[in-house]
Amino acid sequence: MTASWLPSLITATPEEGFDLAIKLSRMAVKKTQPDDEVRARLRPVYAEDPTALVAISHVVAANFQTVAAANGYWRP
Ligand code: HEM
Repeated sequence: MTASWLPSLITATPEEGFDLAIKLSRMAVKKTQPDDEVRARLRPVYAEDPTALVAISHVVAANFQTVAAANGYWRP
């Protein structure tokens, strides 16, 4: 039994929450395109495409909303 890649949405800080939002976003890509070679080939393409980078920021922002809500916005 392999360890879960997503054991919890709870994070200690907002910054860790943002990292989790990036992880969620990247996992969506990985599960959609499981071929490592294909993803490696496409990496340099999106890395220099400003429109793709803005789109990526949007996906991460949407996931960050979920993580922040799950963490009660890290309010004390
Ligand atoms: C690397 C985020 C979409 C393929 C990275 C890195 C980040 C990132 C932060 C740098 C990792 C590091 O240097 O430690 C994202 C996000 C995405 C996304 C948030 C979507 C919302 C994609 C897509 C592809 C892709 C669409 C290809 C189909 C790769 C590959 C690397 C990489 C091959 C380099 C290998 C690695 O460092 O693991 N990505 N990415 N990513 N990304 Fe993406």
